[in-house]
Amino acid sequence: MTKLEELRQNYLEEVDRASSESELEQVRVSALGKKGTITLELRKLGSMDPEQRKEIAPQLNSLKVDVTQAISSKKEALVDKELEEQLQKEWLDVTLPGRSRRQGSIHPVSQTIEQAVAIFSDMGFSYAEGPQIETDWYNFDALNMPPEHPARQEHDTFFIKSDSKTAKNPNVLRTHTSPVQIRSMTNQGVPIRIIAPGRVYRCDYDQTHTPMFHQIEGLAIDKHLNMAHLKWTLEEFCRTFFEVKNVELRFRASHFPFTEPSAEVDIRCSWEKDQLKIGEGNDWLEILGCGMVHPNVLKACNVDPDKYQGFAFGMGLDRIAMLKYGIPDLRSFFESDIRWLRHYGFLPVDVPSLHSGLSL
Ligand code: DAH
Repeated sequence: MTKLEELRQNYLEEVDRASSESELEQVRVSALGKKGTITLELRKLGSMDPEQRKEIAPQLNSLKVDVTQAISSKKEALVDKELEEQLQKEWLDVTLPGRSRRQGSIHPVSQTIEQAVAIFSDMGFSYAEGPQIETDWYNFDALNMPPEHPARQEHDTFFIKSDSKTAKNPNVLRTHTSPVQIRSMTNQGVPIRIIAPGRVYRCDYDQTHTPMFHQIEGLAIDKHLNMAHLKWTLEEFCRTFFEVKNVELRFRASHFPFTEPSAEVDIRCSWEKDQLKIGEGNDWLEILGCGMVHPNVLKACNVDPDKYQGFAFGMGLDRIAMLKYGIPDLRSFFESDIRWLRHYGFLPVDVPSLHSGLSL
């Protein structure tokens, strides 16, 4: 076997053996690269005498052509093989049905807020909001609860540490929605009619108390508003919200620093076989606090109490949601148990409105 034939055989075998593109590239460099064996042999042609060159040149060329062709067809084969492997690995059945996502639901508290807003809007109240982190001036002082007032202790307040030495008042997590009364009156002036639903915080936890819960605040100030307007507003609300004709409310004299006179309101109900019925029976359940706004509160908002007067109320939203939907434990509202949410939640399309019957 001549030297060239030996080279041909070796390279064709090596090409055949290469199992990846990088191995094949190594073979190509060693044969046809700048310093490859065949390249160096071709270079030698220049120094040969014409007779010898005539004999060797065609053999060398055919060797070069054969090795080049072998490399390129091997390369194609390797690319095909890789693609084939990839197709095997990344096999995808496009006929499989998609994985559907579970539809979420609207939390009963959100639904209750929407319902309350729809009802009060219909009576001409507009929607107001305030921050959940309040200064103690808005949360207490302006509501006729000066620093030493005993009612402050009853609120189980969460205080927020204040770094600044110049900060006069500590911040608190608002303990009720009543500070929105102050913010709304100082921003908008009077006459005013607002409702303000939102989160409030108190350091308390048992079957009927959670550290965060929801209230809705109402405020109406004008020249001639009195307790009768307050009673009608609350009765009308309860009748629409609980969707029973004969709602009976009991106004019990009470005390709040920000109202005078003040009342707590109970709703007539009955428990029958663990089933709660609103509007009948001999039981009463407390649902809210209310009263005529105290002159000191009006003064704190630069409203003249000799010219203006009105009423306010604060209602526990979680409490009325529990009553309406028969939910026994307040804590379950905030546990994010997906089974509970599926059971008590609402469809997103159930947007409460008065003409559609509030979506039960
Ligand atoms: N802020 C009171 C509370 O959280 C509830 C309340 C009572 C609000 C009487 C009022 C009101 O606006 O007039 O216990």
